[in-house]
Amino acid sequence: MDLLDIVHRNPDPEPWTEGEKIPWHEPGFSARMLREHLSQSHDAASRRFPIVERQVTWIHQQILGGEPTRVLDLGCGPGLYTSRLANLGHTCTGIDFSPASIDYARAEATRRGLPCSYCLDDIRTADYGTGYGLVMLLFGELNVFRPEDARLILRKAHQALLSGGRLLLEPHTYAAVAQLGTEPASWDASPAGLFSNHPHIFLQENTWHAEQAVATNRYYVIDAESGAVTRHAASTQAYTDDAYRDLIAGCGFTNLTHYPSLIGTAAPDGFGLLALVAEKVAVQG
Ligand SMILES: C[S@@+](CC[C@H](N)C(=O)[O-])C[C@H]1O[C@@H](n2cnc3c(N)ncnc32)[C@H](O)[C@@H]1O
Repeated sequence: MDLLDIVHRNPDPEPWTEGEKIPWHEPGFSARMLREHLSQSHDAASRRFPIVERQVTWIHQQILGGEPTRVLDLGCGPGLYTSRLANLGHTCTGIDFSPASIDYARAEATRRGLPCSYCLDDIRTADYGTGYGLVMLLFGELNVFRPEDARLILRKAHQALLSGGRLLLEPHTYAAVAQLGTEPASWDASPAGLFSNHPHIFLQENTWHAEQAVATNRYYVIDAESGAVTRHAASTQAYTDDAYRDLIAGCGFTNLTHYPSLIGTAAPDGFGLLALVAEKVAVQG
């Protein structure tokens, strides 16, 4: 792409048509993103460790009743949740398609002798295995999938769970997604950053598709030396509480409980995320 492609861009891009999401799976991007996951100066890619620890304590006590089980973390990133749950006695599997994150998670599990295994794969197509007491998908990632992919993932999660097992989702509130789509365009210039190791200009443009309730964010990275343009795009589906209920019930779950955050109470951090817990119906023996 070049600058003219920006000039002639579609002013109203259809959700997901210009890209599924930011390039988590690309090796260079994933290595740069890993630094952001592990950074203790912001909460953009993963929450800072003290917050993760509070969330893990809540999951262990409130969702799992302190009982060791098998946990599957979809989109596990560098394993910040799985490693801490393993420290509390759980046996964990993580799936993620970011190579740098999975390398880091595996190395940490080996170094610390943790009962964690990791799989570099796309959660839309990966084999999840079976026999889990908890399957979770955190930090808003559910919303970034097309609705048909979100349903597919939740049905696979349902199959992977033991009877009576729990699904834990941490999706965005409707208002947070609407805000993603309505923020004004912005730009930045940097010698190196998350989207490029080289001097570049970074443009972000946002669209809110009110009828579909989808925010689309487009990112243009302009290489400062060559002028070459790379475009990334991500779309985020907003769901009302009723839409979450229909989605989750439609994938076979029951006993849905809403919590205002992954620590159970209203979070002071304003991430615009909530926690949803549902159950796979126990088969009467
Ligand atoms: C916002 S990060 C959260 C990571 C981790 N759950 C945490 O909170 O520390 C989203 C993660 O989902 C992963 N991801 C997104 N889409 C995926 C897909 N289709 N298959 C596997 N992993 C995916 C990304 O690579 C990234 O690690």
